[in-house]
Amino acid sequence: MSWDLNPPKADVPFIHCDVSSETRIAEAYAETVKAHGVPTILVNNCGIQYIAPVDEFPLEKWNQLISVLLTGTFLCSKAVIPGLKKQGWGRIINVSSIHGKVASPYKSAYVAAKHGVLGLSKVMALELAEHGVTVNSICPGFVDTQLMRQQITKQAELNHMNEDQVISEIMLKPACVKKFTTPEQVADMVAYFASDAASTITGEAFSMSGGWGMGQ
Ligand SMILES: NC(=O)c1ccc[n+]([C@@H]2O[C@H](COP(=O)([O-])OP(=O)(O)OC[C@H]3O[C@@H](n4cnc5c(N)ncnc54)[C@H](O)[C@@H]3O)[C@@H](O)[C@H]2O)c1
Repeated sequence: MSWDLNPPKADVPFIHCDVSSETRIAEAYAETVKAHGVPTILVNNCGIQYIAPVDEFPLEKWNQLISVLLTGTFLCSKAVIPGLKKQGWGRIINVSSIHGKVASPYKSAYVAAKHGVLGLSKVMALELAEHGVTVNSICPGFVDTQLMRQQITKQAELNHMNEDQVISEIMLKPACVKKFTTPEQVADMVAYFASDAASTITGEAFSMSGGWGMGQ
C-alpha cells in the first residue's frame, strides 16, 4: 500500500513501514530490535481518513481504512507482544478517536475501525494483565494535524458550507470546550499511560474531546 508519508518533524529515528503488511512489520520490528533492543512500549498512532456517504463509499477505501486503522493496530501489537511477555513489562497505547465511541455522518469506515480498536484493546488488556502489560486507548476529538485539516475541504463540499462554518458548526459543535486538542496534549497522555503512575490502569478509553459525547 502507498500513502502520503508524513515523517516525524522532530529529530527522532524512524522506519518507513506499511502497518497493514505483516511482512513489513516483521522487518521493521527486527530492524528496531537490532538498533535499539526489544521495545517495551508500542503506540499505535498512524491513521488515514476518507469521507463519503455509505452508499457512495468505495470498497477499496473501506478496505484501506480498516487495514491501516484496525488491522494495523492488531498486526503491530501481535508483533511486539511476545517481547513484552518475555520482559514481563510493557505498554500498548492505541490512539483511537472519539469516533471509537460516537458516530458522525460520512465516516463509516473510520468510525467502524476506531470502535474496533477499543474492542481489540480490551481483549489485549485482559490477555496481557498477568504479564505486566497494560493496554489503553486515547480518544481525541479534533486534533490540529494534517489529517484533520484535509477533512475541512471535503466536509465543506458535502455539507454546502464554507471552511469556517465546518470548523464551528461541525467540528467543534459537539464539544463544550470550543478548541482543537494539540498533538502535544495527546503526546502527554501517551507519556502518562506509559508511566508507572498508570500501572493499574488498563482496558480504558480516555477521551480528550472537549466534552464531546456528554449528550448535549
Ligand atoms: N487529527 C485528528 O483530528 C484526530 C482525531 C482523533 C484521532 N486521531 C487519530 O490520531 C492518529 C494520528 O493522526 P494525525 O491526526 O496525527 O494524522 P496525520 O495525517 O498527521 O498522521 C498520520 C500518520 O500515519 C501515517 N500512515 C498512514 N498510513 C500508514 C500506513 N499504511 N502505515 C504506516 N503509517 C501510515 C502517515 O504517514 C502519518 O505519519 C490517527 O490514528 C488518527 O486517526 C486524529
